[in-house]
Amino acid sequence: MNKQVEKKKLNHRSKIPVLGFGTWKLKGTECQNAVFNALKVGYRHIDTADAYKNHQEVGKAINGSGIKRDEIFLTSKVWRTSLNPEDLKKDTKRFLDELDTDYLDLLLVHWPNDDVPISDTIGAMKELKTEGLVNHIGVSNFTALQLKILLNSSQHILGKDISIANHQFEFHPTLQQKELVKFSHQNDISVTAYSPLGHGQDLEIKKIKDIAGARGCTEAQVILAWIRQKGIIAIPRSSDPKHIQENFESLNVELSDEDLGKIDTLDNNNRIVNPSFSPFGK
Ligand SMILES: NC(=O)c1ccc[n+]([C@@H]2O[C@H](COP(=O)([O-])OP(=O)(O)OC[C@H]3O[C@@H](n4cnc5c(N)ncnc54)[C@H](OP(=O)(O)O)[C@@H]3O)[C@@H](O)[C@H]2O)c1
Repeated sequence: MNKQVEKKKLNHRSKIPVLGFGTWKLKGTECQNAVFNALKVGYRHIDTADAYKNHQEVGKAINGSGIKRDEIFLTSKVWRTSLNPEDLKKDTKRFLDELDTDYLDLLLVHWPNDDVPISDTIGAMKELKTEGLVNHIGVSNFTALQLKILLNSSQHILGKDISIANHQFEFHPTLQQKELVKFSHQNDISVTAYSPLGHGQDLEIKKIKDIAGARGCTEAQVILAWIRQKGIIAIPRSSDPKHIQENFESLNVELSDEDLGKIDTLDNNNRIVNPSFSPFGK
């Protein structure tokens, strides 16, 4: 029997399911089927982005699932060339049409772009929130310095009722970004681990295989439990119904402190997602 998806504090008002479903690289019918399957299995948090070109399929899966919209946490992301206020507002309205929904639970800046003052971007996101088109705002792929600049320059715009609710970045056993996690959490910003399985690479690590063998669970479940037990949200992606189910059942896996400690030692700065415009460098 699966647990209900546990939720984590997003900010002082809301919660986010600690396990979500990623949709990068999923397109067309494969995407629609995968999201539909995920919802059927019990996921209530779906992660997409304008750049994934699958909003329509995600929307069809959600609307076809029979699950009430307000039971699902839906995230999308605006691309780095659309961070000026006018484009950001226009693009977000288009996302809502494509997703066939009235609102997003979370809108993220997909990648930073130092050419646009972040306070302008945040001002536009605040307007979308005030209009009820997005419930929460956040960022993805920011360095700690960029996050610090954002917080310093935007606090007066956000005021006391709106906060940066979430920071999504690459996080898995071989890329743990400990300082970035610490800095985000210290500023009351929840962290979402993207590429939580390291694109499948981290499933091959011997220490993880040994823990899975000893516990009678799978390598993916070990990694997802480790992330959850660190207070971090994970959004694994899969097009395989068996993997979708298996990943969801990681919610039933509880690792010991000793197991958690063993995985903590695996960090070797193995950054997988590193496009030319990444602020993290090569
Ligand atoms: N903000 C950003 O810039 C950003 C960047 C990257 C990713 N993301 C988000 O994070 C999500 C997840 O990251 P990701 O897609 O990069 O990679 P990931 O979830 O780390 O890995 C996906 C790969 O792992 C395989 N896999 C999944 N479950 C498995 C299991 N139980 N056993 C064996 N293999 C398994 C999948 O293959 P099968 O299909 O065969 O299962 C797929 O090849 C994305 O889909 C996206 O939503 C965001």
